[in-house]
Amino acid sequence: MQVHPARPRILLGVTGGIAAYKAAELVRRLRAMGAEVQVVMTKAATRFVTPWTLQALSGRPVRTRLWDQTAEAAMGHIELARWAERVVIAPASADFLAKLRAGLADDLLSTLCLATEAPIAVAPAMNRRMWRHPATQENLAVLKKRGVQVWGPATGAQACGETGPGRMLEAAELCERIRAWLRPGPLNGKRVLITAGPTREAIDPVRFLSNRSSGKMGYALAQAAAEAGAQVVLVSGPTALAPPPVAELVRVESAKEMYEAVMARVENTAIFIAAAAVADYTPAVVQPHKIKKETEWLHLELVKTQDILAEVARRPKRPFTVGFAAETERLEEHARAKLERKGLDMIAANKVGKGVGFEVDENCLWVLWPGGARRLPLASKLTLARQLVALIAERYAAKNSAKDSR
Ligand code: CTP
Repeated sequence: MQVHPARPRILLGVTGGIAAYKAAELVRRLRAMGAEVQVVMTKAATRFVTPWTLQALSGRPVRTRLWDQTAEAAMGHIELARWAERVVIAPASADFLAKLRAGLADDLLSTLCLATEAPIAVAPAMNRRMWRHPATQENLAVLKKRGVQVWGPATGAQACGETGPGRMLEAAELCERIRAWLRPGPLNGKRVLITAGPTREAIDPVRFLSNRSSGKMGYALAQAAAEAGAQVVLVSGPTALAPPPVAELVRVESAKEMYEAVMARVENTAIFIAAAAVADYTPAVVQPHKIKKETEWLHLELVKTQDILAEVARRPKRPFTVGFAAETERLEEHARAKLERKGLDMIAANKVGKGVGFEVDENCLWVLWPGGARRLPLASKLTLARQLVALIAERYAAKNSAKDSR
C-alpha cells in the first residue's frame, strides 16, 4: 500500500441519517485539503447516500461490510484500523454513539473503532429529543472521558420539521476542525485541570452567599486548552454557559465541593488553572430550616474556606500551577505578592470593579511569573484565553526543560 507521508489518512465513518448527504461534501473538501480518505459506511447509511457517490469522490472503494472477501483480501479490517491516522464519524447517529460507548463490534465500522489506536471524533446528527435523551447524553459523557472528540451538533431547523440541537455541523466547519486536529497543539495529550465560575455557600435551604463571576474566563480557557490539544477537566460552579468541548465537566456548588472535586482529580495533571471565584468565607453553620425575619439584627458567622489553589501548589508532585488575582488597586504589586505567597508558577491579574472584570465579555490581563511579566491588552475573553494558554504552554515547556537539564 502506497502512503504519501505528508498526506493525512482519514477514515471517514458514515452512519444512518439524513445528514449522510453532507458526507459527500466533506469527502470532497478533505481530498482538496490533501488528505487520503477511506470511507466506511454502515448498512443504514447506504439507504441515505449511495456508496458509488462516496467512492467516486474519495477515489477508493467504499467499505460497507465486515465479511467482504474481496475487500478483506485487499486490506483486512485490522490493517484498515492501523492505516487510519484519524477516525471521523460524520454523521454519528444516536444508535452508533450507543454502540461506540458499549464497545460493540457487530459491523465493520464499530469493529474498526474498537481495533484502531487512532483518535476518534464524532459529529452527531439526530432529532433534538434523541439528542437530549439522558441515554444519549450519558453515552457522550463516557465517550468524551475516553478522549473521543465530540463536534457539534448545531442548533436549527431539522429534517423532521422540529427545531433544536441535533443538526450535524456543516462540512466546511468539520473540515476546519479536522485540520486543527491534525496539527498537534502545544498542549497535545496534556491533562489540564481548570476551575471556573462562582461558588454558592448555603446559609439555609433557600439562601446562599455568592459573587458576580459568570464563569466566562474559565470556560474560555477550557476551550482554548482543548484547542491546544489538552485533555481538559473543567470543575465548574453554577453558570449559565454552554459546556465547552472538554473531556470531563464536573458541576459543583460550594467551595468545599470544588475543593473535593479538584483534589480527587489533580493526580497526573500537567497544568492546574484556578480561574474560579471561590468564596473565601462560608457560613459556619447551615441552618436546617429557612431563617425567619424575627429579629432586627441577624448575625452570620463565617469561617474561612480551604484555598484550593494554595493547596494544589503545596503538593509535592504538583502540576504547573496558575492562579488568578482580581484586584481593585495596585494590580501588579498585589499580584506579585500573591504569586510569591501562594508559591505559584504564574498568575493572571485583572482589575475588577464597576463595569470591568466580572460579567463582561472583554478584559485585559497582567500575567506574571517568577522572573517575568507580560501584558495582554484588552480583547475578548476567548482571545485572551488563547493568548494565556499559549503563554502557559511556553512557560510550562521552559520549566520542564530546566528541570530536565538539572
Ligand atoms: N482560590 C482558590 N480557593 C479559594 C480561594 C481562592 O482556589 N478558596 C483561587 C482563585 O481561583 C484564584 C486565586 O485563588 O485563582 C485568587 O485568590 P484571591 O482569593 O483573590 O486571593 P487571596 O489570596 O485570598 O487574597 P485577597 O483575598 O487578599 O485578595
